Amino acid sequence: MQIDSIRVDGGVCLQGKVKIQGSKNACLPVMAATLLTKGESQITNCPKISDVFRMKQLLGSMGCIIRESSKGITIDTSRVQRKKMPSEAVQSMRSSICMLGALLGRTGEVYMEYPGGCVIGARPIDMHLMALEKMGAVFRMEEEMIYGSVENGFHGADIEFSKVSVGATENALLAAVLAKGHTRISGAAKEPEVQALCRYLVNCGAQISGIGSERLEIEGVETLHGCKMWIPADRIVAGTYLFAVLAAGGSAWLEEAPCDQMEAVIEVARRMGAVCQTGEDGLYVQAPERLQPVRRLKTGVYPDFPTDLQSAVLVAALRAEGVSEIEETIFENRFHIVEPLRDMGANVKVLDERRVKVWGPSVLTGKSVEAWELRGGAAMVLAGLMADGVSTINGYRYIMRGYENIAKDLTELGARVFSVREA
Ligand code: UD1
Repeated sequence: MQIDSIRVDGGVCLQGKVKIQGSKNACLPVMAATLLTKGESQITNCPKISDVFRMKQLLGSMGCIIRESSKGITIDTSRVQRKKMPSEAVQSMRSSICMLGALLGRTGEVYMEYPGGCVIGARPIDMHLMALEKMGAVFRMEEEMIYGSVENGFHGADIEFSKVSVGATENALLAAVLAKGHTRISGAAKEPEVQALCRYLVNCGAQISGIGSERLEIEGVETLHGCKMWIPADRIVAGTYLFAVLAAGGSAWLEEAPCDQMEAVIEVARRMGAVCQTGEDGLYVQAPERLQPVRRLKTGVYPDFPTDLQSAVLVAALRAEGVSEIEETIFENRFHIVEPLRDMGANVKVLDERRVKVWGPSVLTGKSVEAWELRGGAAMVLAGLMADGVSTINGYRYIMRGYENIAKDLTELGARVFSVREA
C-alpha cells in the first residue's frame, strides 16, 4: 500500500498544540558531514522524513553503518568505500550535492549524478564547483554525471561568493575543515542550518570562526572525530503551521518552534494581525478575526523572510482583506501553486516569474489538485483547510520529503486531514 494523496475536509478552525519536528535542512548536511569523521556520530531529533531515509541509503552505500534507536541514529563512518552512489537517492534530493565536498574530503574522489530536488528553478551548481576547484578539486562532466577528484587532499583558499548560496557555503565548509592550511569564505550564507553544520564540525574537532556571519575562517585540521549532535527544530515546518493557523483561523501552540530563527516570519504574521507570543519552548499564535494583507513582501536570504515559506504565506494572504504582492528573490520558478489555487477559486495572478499578486479575501472550494514540490504541496494542504468542502492533494510523496506527518500534525490542531492509501 502506498500513500500518495492527502484529503482535507476544509472549514475547520485550528485549536491545540503540536510539537515541531527536527529540521530537514540542518539534518541532511550534518549526515553528509559524518563522512569526514572516522568514528561514530549520534544524531538526535532527526526528522522521520523520506529525504533522511534517502540520505541513510546514500551513506549506507558508501559503507557507513547506521543504527537506529529511540534517541536517533548513530552513523559509524570508520570504513568508507569509494563507490558510485545509488542514482534514485541522488536524483531525488538536492541535499545530495553535499556529498561532493564530503566525499572528496574523505576519499579524494566522487562520481555521482546531478542532484535533484524540487522543481523551483534552474538550481545551478557552478558556485559549488568553483569553491571546490579553488581548493584543488578537478571536475569532469559526463552527460548527467559529475566526476570529481582531488589529488593529495584539499588545500586552503580564499573563496568569494558573489551571491548567497546555502548549499555552496556548506560544500566549501566540508572541503575546508580537513584542507591543508587556511580557508576564508566571504559572502557565506548565515542560515541557521549552516550554523548547525558548523557546530557539528566544531564538535568533531574542526576549527571554524565567524559562525553566523558572512565571513567564515577555517583552519584545516588533520582528522575529525565523531560526536553527538542534536538537530534543532525546523523553522520552516513551524512557519508552515503558523500560516496554517492564519489560513484556517483559530490558535495554536507550536511546541519547540525556534522563535529566535523566525523573526522575519513572526513579524509578517503580526503585520497580518496575528497575536504571536514567543518563548524558548515554542510559539503561540492566534489568528485575528479579520486578517490583514501582507501588502508587499519579498523573500530573501536569512535573516529575511525564507523562500521556503513563500507558498504558505501566499495561501494565508488569500484569506486577508486586501491586496498583497509577494516577490520571490531566490528562485525563478516558484509559483507552481498559483494554477491549482485559481482552480479552487483564488483571486491570485502571477505578474512575472518573480512576482505574484493576491486580491483577498477569496472563497476557496475544495478540489482535487496536484502537488508538484515539497513546500508548494504543503501550502496546498493549507489551501484545503481554508476551502469549503473536500480537497484532495495528490503527490503526497513530495510533502513527505520534508514533513514527518502533516496530516497527523494538523489533526492534532483539530483539522480534518487524512492520508489516503491507494493499492
Ligand atoms: C535554498 C535556500 C534555502 C532553502 C532551499 C530549499 C536561500 C539562500 N537558500 O538553498 O533557504 O531551504 O533552497 O528550498 O534562501 N545558485 C547559483 N549557483 C550555485 C548555487 C546556487 O547560481 O552553484 C543560486 C540559486 O539558483 C539561487 C540562489 O543561488 O538563486 C540560492 O541557492 P542556494 O542557497 O544554493 O539553494 P539551496 O542551497 O538549495
